[in-house]
Amino acid sequence: MIIQPIIRNNICINSHPAGCAASVRHQIEYAGKTLGANQGGAGPKLALIIGCSTGYGLASRITAAFGCHAATVGISFEKPPTKTRAGTPGYYNNLVFDKEAAKAGLASKSLNGDAYSDAMKGEAVKAIKETAAAAGLSPQVDLIIYSLASPVRTDPKDGVMYRSVIKPIGESFSGKTIDMMSGKFTTASAEPASEEDIYHTVKVMGGEDWELWIKALDEAGILAPSARTVAYTYIGPKFSWAIYKNGTIGRAKEDLERACREINKTLTPGGGRAWISVNKALVTRASAVIPIIPFYVSCLFKVMKEKGVHEGCIEQIVRLYRDRLYADAGSDPAKVPVDSEGRIRIDDWEMREDVQQATAERMDSLTEETIMSDADVGGFRHDFLVVHGFDVEGVNYDAELNPLGLDL
Ligand SMILES: NC(=O)c1ccc[n+]([C@@H]2O[C@H](COP(=O)([O-])OP(=O)(O)OC[C@H]3O[C@@H](n4cnc5c(N)ncnc54)[C@H](O)[C@@H]3O)[C@@H](O)[C@H]2O)c1
Repeated sequence: MIIQPIIRNNICINSHPAGCAASVRHQIEYAGKTLGANQGGAGPKLALIIGCSTGYGLASRITAAFGCHAATVGISFEKPPTKTRAGTPGYYNNLVFDKEAAKAGLASKSLNGDAYSDAMKGEAVKAIKETAAAAGLSPQVDLIIYSLASPVRTDPKDGVMYRSVIKPIGESFSGKTIDMMSGKFTTASAEPASEEDIYHTVKVMGGEDWELWIKALDEAGILAPSARTVAYTYIGPKFSWAIYKNGTIGRAKEDLERACREINKTLTPGGGRAWISVNKALVTRASAVIPIIPFYVSCLFKVMKEKGVHEGCIEQIVRLYRDRLYADAGSDPAKVPVDSEGRIRIDDWEMREDVQQATAERMDSLTEETIMSDADVGGFRHDFLVVHGFDVEGVNYDAELNPLGLDL
């Protein structure tokens, strides 16, 4: 069959297997080229990536494996294809990751299912032991990346399904955004969250599950005493705070910081450490649906590209490993560069004063006539399509393909 993108309201409901494969291979090549030769012994040996199939998690897994030569276990929740319908992008990404890892002699295992469940934690423990054995390593996980973005979570304790929402707190929100396909302005608005909305969002996107993962690994005796673990957050410019940082998602991210402090009580005595890393705003499956993001990111990308400081997921994460997490060859976690709150910052270039000022000026002055030339709507659209395997360099989109992805 031939697959074309189907997009509605900034959501793409299908994916292209060959494009996903090519995009993963481009990232593998970048991590190998940029880091592979220089990373030496620094870096993880056995990494667990929770949310490994797309966005920041996929880049984290690729960097651990192809940049640092680590064995990896990845967890994600993706829909497999049928003979007549493509699967979700992450399904193909995992397939290609494992294929390339095997070719490079790197042990890897990808598990598909609900990371929030106790059953998946049990499966992961087993997979980590098997992967360590295949790599000739002792079963001691020394890096855990927590990179889930999910609309729902069933709490394994009470069996209740919680739903996360993107809403402001206290007052309603209304902001300009754009339809990336037409380049037309639209208004995104959201009513204030209820107490229940806040509670649900913290249950889904907060730190409780991260703590449960660390506990499960510790109890199974497979958490290396010097293990490092990182969860990702976003802060962004002040004008986005009403809908993000000071909204429901921001509350969940505060809870992630609370969990980080709790996890450090377990890890610090053995020489390990937990961090929150503040990452740059990028186009992923999760971020495209956040109001304001398509407009802000289109302006931000234009400015960052003009200033030569633009990065995508893989560039961000390579910099996270090389210049932050493993910058110190002596492996002292206290030497990882952090801000006054103890957070790793790889949003530093996005938040630079000159970048923020130029982005704000552009957002103020744009009209529908100038948006295509003065903002990077094309770049946003391209990145969005690439996330789903479309618009990837070197892929023949007129070729017939098998949605099962067996020939990738
Ligand atoms: N995209 C951004 O601009 C941005 C910026 C800063 C921080 N972050 C943070 O990075 C993290 C990852 O976000 P992303 O944008 O890369 O998202 P993404 O949608 O690309 O990836 C989410 C991952 O979570 C997995 N997942 C979702 N529900 C799951 C479940 N129940 N069980 C197992 N796996 C599940 C998906 O399969 C996928 O691998 C989030 O915490 C997000 O807040 C994102």
